[in-house]
Amino acid sequence: MIASSFLACLPLAPKDPILGVTEAFQADSNPHKVNLGVGVYTDEQGKLPLLRSVALAEDRLNTLKSARGYLPIEGLGRYIRQVQTLVFGENSPALREGRLVTVQSLGGTGGLKLGADFLRWFHPAAEVWISDPSWENHRALFEAAGFTVKSYPYYDPETHGVNFSGLLHSLEKAPRGTIVVLHACCHNPSGVDLSAAQWQAIRTVVVERGLTPFLDLAYQGFSRGTEMDAASVRYFSELDIPILVANSFSKSFSLYGERVGALTVVCADREEAQRVQSQLKRVIRTNYSNPPTHGASIVATVLEDSNLRQLWQDELAGMRNRIQSMRLALVSYLREALPDQDFGFVAEQQGMFSFSGLNLAQVRRLRQDFSIYAVDTGRICIAALNEHNLERVVEALARVIAGASGI
Ligand code: LMR
Repeated sequence: MIASSFLACLPLAPKDPILGVTEAFQADSNPHKVNLGVGVYTDEQGKLPLLRSVALAEDRLNTLKSARGYLPIEGLGRYIRQVQTLVFGENSPALREGRLVTVQSLGGTGGLKLGADFLRWFHPAAEVWISDPSWENHRALFEAAGFTVKSYPYYDPETHGVNFSGLLHSLEKAPRGTIVVLHACCHNPSGVDLSAAQWQAIRTVVVERGLTPFLDLAYQGFSRGTEMDAASVRYFSELDIPILVANSFSKSFSLYGERVGALTVVCADREEAQRVQSQLKRVIRTNYSNPPTHGASIVATVLEDSNLRQLWQDELAGMRNRIQSMRLALVSYLREALPDQDFGFVAEQQGMFSFSGLNLAQVRRLRQDFSIYAVDTGRICIAALNEHNLERVVEALARVIAGASGI
């Protein structure tokens, strides 16, 4: 008889709170199903777009017929230069002074993970504080890296805004060195962003308390454009303290499956930057050795060429504007369906998501009775709405919110 192995008692892991929703959606045979779970932009036909700028860049890359050698451990040099100017700005003092260390990563999640592993090696006693609520994977990712993860107040369901006094008081009590994860723009899941004055107040506390900011910039371009959406990152990078920034091109280039992102560490000087880069290369080498070529080559090709770059900016503005028009339409349809309730806050939120206020029972009903999929927290992806599914979604939302029985 074979002795039972270490796998014999392995427990079944729970489904991922976001990607698990996509799995359930894919298994649903209802032709009218709608996936408002994962943060993916689909166009007015409900299709994932292949951006024209991306297709043109790929055509160019195809004519080159390049062989695929290993990239340097830190990634494609011309991609890294473009990331730095897009995120930190052409005139960034830190860029000019050689204080930015950027490494290519497997999407924004990969950037967070490299940063988490790096911090765990060199800042191991720190706690990680994330917003309440935050992107579901933040807690899991930093815990998996070995950190104790706590949260600071962020969203206030009463006002549909930021509980800013709660946030500030909490950060004022954070132990020195605490790693504070901040959403640079398009807060995920709430869609509620900080004002310039609020960023300023946070920056002051960060300096006073000696905190380490880790900014997550997964949605650059989805609020007010690529420059303004990076304002918080640029503002923090003026400080004389270490800053980490994870950014992603999954959404802004519609390149989800290419896993193309980056981690940047803002250092004190060029010499520190060299040491940081050498250690980040160790983190990468012991993880996946070096990154893939294709996605980074596409992004670099688009951003290096003024025409392709402008085309991309126009396409990004198109996605941003369509999401905003869906927000407005959703608010106006809901006003008709539920005249006693005010959903005006949805129009004020930024980025792909809305914290709808649906509770778990309502989210479950939405799924069971209407094949409409949302995240259990009530987060819905506005970027998945279109003129063809909006009425159906509103009708289902209205029934679920009013507590009426299904169709
Ligand atoms: C989301 O929040 O839905 C996206 O960032 C996708 C993901 O990886 O969770």
